[in-house]
Amino acid sequence: MADPTDNRPVALVTGGAGGIGRALCADLAEHGHTVVSADLVADPVPGAAHSVELDLRSGESCWAAVAEVLDRFGRLDLLVNNAGINARGRVEDVPEEVWLPVVDVNLNGTLRMCQAAYAALVESRGAIVNLASTGGLVAIAGSAVYGVTKAAVIHLTKVLALEWAGAGVRVNAVAPTIVPSPMTADVVDDAEYMAAKLASIPLGRVVDAAEVAAAARWLASPAAGMVTGHTLPVDGGVSVL
Ligand SMILES: NC(=O)c1ccc[n+]([C@@H]2O[C@H](COP(=O)([O-])OP(=O)(O)OC[C@H]3O[C@@H](n4cnc5c(N)ncnc54)[C@H](O)[C@@H]3O)[C@@H](O)[C@H]2O)c1
Repeated sequence: MADPTDNRPVALVTGGAGGIGRALCADLAEHGHTVVSADLVADPVPGAAHSVELDLRSGESCWAAVAEVLDRFGRLDLLVNNAGINARGRVEDVPEEVWLPVVDVNLNGTLRMCQAAYAALVESRGAIVNLASTGGLVAIAGSAVYGVTKAAVIHLTKVLALEWAGAGVRVNAVAPTIVPSPMTADVVDDAEYMAAKLASIPLGRVVDAAEVAAAARWLASPAAGMVTGHTLPVDGGVSVL
């Protein structure tokens, strides 16, 4: 167990080893959290005080990850449901073996983590920040499966906000447009794809992972103490249109 005199809030970041996850771990640590990264492989992540192994496809793994945080640090104040996977392709072309895992990780995995963390978050009167996406706010052709999972995460965020408000647990989401990261490595060097993507973003550039982390941190902070059920776009105006 951590030093009991250390009152820093404890944050669990799923997908902490990924592009946005690393930014979240670094930002939250810099701003006073004890951060635990949870990912498929429990490699050290800069900023994270500890890394745990997590496979969101397994409820058992989700509960074990939360239990490990509680064993080690004694509390959980913030869950960032950041881990996710993508699948591109038109609906008529996407086979089940491609889209079922996207649903299982992005939607079911988020739900599993929320269930696993519920008691600890009630205890701390903590918060959840979910990673949604522009694709969950506006329809993007060629991104149906991914977009549907993110739309579902946005709806889950609203329902949980209502169900858990009485226990003092706030639930919000951030919805970025394209962020250079391992997830988008297949498209950020594709000039044609990027020209079309940038043309769809009023502010005309991609999002930096640090900008997503800053938005998530604000939603989790006491400054946002009356904000719940909200999805904050970090998208240069895409969803305004
Ligand atoms: N990069 C973007 O353009 C973008 C835009 C909007 C939203 N998002 C969302 O932000 C989040 C982070 O995306 P990213 O760009 O950092 O992606 P990434 O691929 O860099 O990182 C995702 C992380 O999730 C982990 N992960 C995957 N499956 C897992 C599982 N079953 N259990 C546990 N961990 C698992 C991966 O190992 C990886 O470290 C995702 O939810 C993504 O949908 C990304």
